[in-house]
Amino acid sequence: MVKKIKTCIFISGNGSNLKSIINNSRDYNFPIKIDLIISNNINAKGLLFGKKYSIPYKFFSSKNREKFERNCIYEIKKRKIKFICLAGFMKVLSKNFIRKFGYQIINIHPSLLPKYKGLNTHKRVLNNKEKYSGCTVHFVTPELDSGKIISQKKISINKNETESSLKKKILIQEHKLYSSSIISIFR
Ligand code: GAR
Repeated sequence: MVKKIKTCIFISGNGSNLKSIINNSRDYNFPIKIDLIISNNINAKGLLFGKKYSIPYKFFSSKNREKFERNCIYEIKKRKIKFICLAGFMKVLSKNFIRKFGYQIINIHPSLLPKYKGLNTHKRVLNNKEKYSGCTVHFVTPELDSGKIISQKKISINKNETESSLKKKILIQEHKLYSSSIISIFR
């Protein structure tokens, strides 16, 4: 069995990426173990996966980013966590936090970066009548959605595609891409 890297997942919402990483991390050879879940949204459905899978989970308000990051660093250091995955975490982390954590932070974004950084990705993609979209896993730097790309998955957009159908289609790919990217980093 590989010595698993202690990992924290940051979420803000449904946590479907979190759930898929938890499931994959139960595999013997998966390189990471989820030791902590942090949400900046007390109502995040994803927090329920912490309860369900007996993984410690914490809510910290991010209204004051400095305080939020201080709370996170405390919990992360206490648990000797070495790797962070952002999975639908909708807050930009400070340069200081990223530097302090040694740049071992990755994120998933629902577009083919560097195109469509930021929010409302699917809406903007459809408005621009793009033929393709997809998802990207990348290292986190202080600039929004800009760090080194680890992997991408491209999908085609149908004629009658809606924001909701595109979101669903891409999420299915995100679930596969996130875990395969984690494997590729530690191979
Ligand atoms: C995912 O589509 C993820 O790529 C996106 O939020 C969704 C979270 O879904 N993240 C971003 O837009 C970050 N810029 P989930 O909570 O079900 O994993």
